[in-house]
Amino acid sequence: MDLSALGNDIERVVVSEEQIQNRLKELAAQVNKDYEGRDLILVGVLKGAIMAMADFSRHLQRHVDMDWMAVSSYGAGTKSSGVVRILKDLDSDILGREVLIVEDILDTGLTLSWLTENLLSRGAKSVSVLTVLRKPDAATVKVEAKYVGFDIPSEFVVGYGLDFNQKYRNLPFIGVLAKHLYS
Ligand code: XMP
Ligand code: MG
Repeated sequence: MDLSALGNDIERVVVSEEQIQNRLKELAAQVNKDYEGRDLILVGVLKGAIMAMADFSRHLQRHVDMDWMAVSSYGAGTKSSGVVRILKDLDSDILGREVLIVEDILDTGLTLSWLTENLLSRGAKSVSVLTVLRKPDAATVKVEAKYVGFDIPSEFVVGYGLDFNQKYRNLPFIGVLAKHLYS
């Protein structure tokens, strides 16, 4: 996508399309190896993880099941409270299964820590996390993301599934939104 087509909406590109694809390919190779000979179900977190699921799963050289959840964090503003509500649950029973959660971004980690516990409580054999992006705040909570695409600074980013007021999800790269759009 041509940046000029977006006006001045994107201040700068943080991770390019090529960097994302190369990194997802590397992570897929790692997952291929780690889960060799084992059952695997990918659980994508709607809506942010749509791009990551589509691209990452196509790099996997193996059979894989896919399912989706949509969750919403209670709490005012842009920071999540850790109290999570399920908007769309899994269609599958994950009892005894090996789950890999696919997420767009790990910020405070509250959402993912709740989700991991929730899936384990259903009797999943294992629950691991793949996230495209990780922000510095994630270091303060105990969410182990086994597969991390990129560590980025604590700035609001959009693109590659991430939105601002539901827009910019379709950008093939990740960028910082221009301040004039939200201040
Ligand atoms: P946690 O619980 O890890 O929440 O704090 C992660 C969720 O917060 C949202 N989030 C962002 N969304 N650009 C976005 O578009 C960002 O820079 C950003 N940082 C956090 C997102 O919904 C993610 O799932
Ligand atoms: Mg999200």
